[in-house]
Amino acid sequence: MQRFFPTFAAIKPMPMNYPISITKIAETRISKVDFNNLGFGKVFSDHMFIADYKDGVWKDMRIVPFDYLPMHPAMSSIHYGQSIFEGLKARRRANKDIIVFRPDKNLERMNISAHRMAMPEIPEDLFYSAINELLKLDEKWIPDGENSSLYIRPFLFATDEFIGIRRSDWYKFIIFTSPVSSYYSGDVKVYASDKYVRAFPGGTGFAKTAGNYARAIQPVEEINKKGYQQILWLDGVEKKYLQEIGTMNIFVIIDGVVLTPSLDEGTILPGITRDSVLSLLKDWNIPFEVRRVSIDEIADAHNRGALEDAFGAGTAATISPIMAIGYGDDEFVLPPVSERAISNRLKEALTLIKNGEVEDSHHWLYVVKP
Ligand SMILES: Cc1ncc(COP(=O)(O)O)c(C=O)c1O
Repeated sequence: MQRFFPTFAAIKPMPMNYPISITKIAETRISKVDFNNLGFGKVFSDHMFIADYKDGVWKDMRIVPFDYLPMHPAMSSIHYGQSIFEGLKARRRANKDIIVFRPDKNLERMNISAHRMAMPEIPEDLFYSAINELLKLDEKWIPDGENSSLYIRPFLFATDEFIGIRRSDWYKFIIFTSPVSSYYSGDVKVYASDKYVRAFPGGTGFAKTAGNYARAIQPVEEINKKGYQQILWLDGVEKKYLQEIGTMNIFVIIDGVVLTPSLDEGTILPGITRDSVLSLLKDWNIPFEVRRVSIDEIADAHNRGALEDAFGAGTAATISPIMAIGYGDDEFVLPPVSERAISNRLKEALTLIKNGEVEDSHHWLYVVKP
């Protein structure tokens, strides 16, 4: 992959030193896919990339037909959870280039997660070579349409055949892709839970590791019964300060100032969309503060009529307006989406940038090398 600068000819080539063997599928499955009803995460492209880590080195880089994996029953990741993942998206520009939004940040975050979970890092050129080759091979799976894209799922897990808790010796790094339309359908109502906790200082909140998601499933089912779609996680110590929602970082706008929780305590996943939102707010001279935001501050703002907006930011849906925040027996209802100038502007701008339709002044896009 190489950096993509829409308005300049100079293109920085990515180091792509990893030899990848390619075994193509005998017959593509693409004609069986209904691209008008993709949903999210249900359809998988023809090929996947696999690399093995053994004896301290990455080896056997290969692209093979998408298929089941053989698994030893003692495989350490399924017992002890040494498993991390990433999520990013590829799209096709009007000029047919395949573009990817900020893959460098996904790699950086993946290696931060790897460090926390005592796993080996993914080398930069391995990551880019694998994505580049996979996208080239399965480019027909990139759906058209403003809200559709090819979701890329890199993941790394321990494969030691050993029952015991220690740093594993063997790992698999796999990337598959999945054509998707938007993740959330319809309006999102969130419930701030002081019963369950996602993360606490010193834990693994900042890592994109499997257990962080597993622990959320049963609590989310509980709040689904109350009529809310997602949990707005509160801090694990005082159960007062906002962390994040499901698979999105949270922003609120109070008295014209955009607020988002700071990452300082290591309890929140450092979202790439979150970082992009903050850059755009800075570009636009819109006031924002990155700091602790309490649920009491939200309640107070709502009561004074100063709670102007609340939205989630994440790769899956870019910007998702929050329609209401539940807390205890209260519900703080937000203004209609049509009145939310800042989040609507953010959504539009990020969509245009990700689709390669406007100048990429931050150099966020990478283009797949043919
Ligand atoms: C827990 C969590 N928070 C926030 C996000 C948003 O991060 P990003 O904008 O990088 O998709 C995600 C999605 O990856 C997530 O899983």
